[in-house]
Amino acid sequence: MKKAFITGITGQDGAYLAKLLLDKGYEVHGGVRRISQPELPRLEQLGVAGDVHLHEFDLTEMNNVFRVIRDVEMDEFYNLAAQSFVGASWDLPIYTADVDGMAVVRILDTLRSVRPETRFYQASTSEMFGLVQEVPQKETTRLYPRSPYGVAKVYGHYITMNYRESFGMHASSGILFNHESPLRGKEFVTRKITLGLAKLAHGGSDPIELGNMDAQRDWGFAGDYVEGMWRMLQQPQADDYVLATNVTTSIRDFFTYAAEAVGMDLAWEGEGEAETATDRKTGRQVMKVNPKFYRPAEVELLIGDASKAREKLGWEPRVQIRELAAMMAKSDYDALR
Ligand code: NAP
Ligand code: GDD
Repeated sequence: MKKAFITGITGQDGAYLAKLLLDKGYEVHGGVRRISQPELPRLEQLGVAGDVHLHEFDLTEMNNVFRVIRDVEMDEFYNLAAQSFVGASWDLPIYTADVDGMAVVRILDTLRSVRPETRFYQASTSEMFGLVQEVPQKETTRLYPRSPYGVAKVYGHYITMNYRESFGMHASSGILFNHESPLRGKEFVTRKITLGLAKLAHGGSDPIELGNMDAQRDWGFAGDYVEGMWRMLQQPQADDYVLATNVTTSIRDFFTYAAEAVGMDLAWEGEGEAETATDRKTGRQVMKVNPKFYRPAEVELLIGDASKAREKLGWEPRVQIRELAAMMAKSDYDALR
């Protein structure tokens, strides 16, 4: 039985990956931060909370990282933990640099000393492309991060490549474009929209307040993307791979698809800060722009080319954008019923 360790097992991707690995017969271990209310809602929602082995773990604590790697004796190490909210990274730039950047070398250097044969996955991100230098973006596209989060992730990405090239470690980076699910954190725009729509559809009256409606993202389903992570670690050689759908959608269009799934028919009016959306069926305003959600520097367009993952890993995204929006909107609508 193979043994895997997942940092960030309580997060969206951690929960889906834990389920995938358990279904494949792995013994699954995961790192959990000490928190005041110890609950595992995502692992519980997928029905696997009782099947994983949890360890107190914080990426900021060097000796804690060392002891976990020494004691768990994992075959595969998936580093999914991060301060993952781009918006917060301007308020927490130093913490974000530590957890999303420096912590990667804490893990790699410990693995190098203690268990160099362990296969390592780093959660890199399309946010590293930032002000995009090529359309669509692929593994060789020049990086131009636009947030403290993106900058920290660039360090994690390059140090993973560097440990692979310097010490021959099986260390791979997945450059994953945005991926969502009903387990998505509530501050990210897709979930903020589907939760807000569920409240409105059940009689709420507050329009959803959003920032830049013109940003475009290449959104896939998290369940598909964790399969790609696992496939990367099954290859004879470690490498870097983009996972993406090659379809890009504006925030406005995602909002429209999710609203359709809960029975709304939207009329969009105005531009910029004056933009609004109204449900034609009820005449109620459901969206207004609030500039407080604008970012100091924006990533306007992401669209990925996952040809390498398709050819070498046999990986394909299965869920398309309208289906994803409907899945999330219906899940939140049903949960609030
Ligand atoms: P998420 O839901 O925000 O989960 C983040 C996880 O990291 C949580 O389990 C969190 O623990 C843990 N964590 C945060 N700080 C930690 C620390 N100091 N020590 C130990 N654990 C810590 O994120 P996600 O969407 O699953 O994303 C997984 C990874 O992929 C992240 O590295 C993210 O940056 C990256 N990524 C995500 C996407 C995407 O679209 N989802 C795309 C590209 C890359 P708590 O539960 O205690 O907060
Ligand atoms: N969160 C949020 N809230 N975003 C908004 C809002 C709002 O009210 N209004 C507009 N947006 C826009 C943001 O400005 C951004 O352009 C876009 O919606 C997506 O924002 P998020 O959902 O917060 O995701 P992200 O693209 O910044 O980051 C996610 O994807 C990255 C991969 O590209 C996160 O999962 C990162 O961890 C991940 O690396």
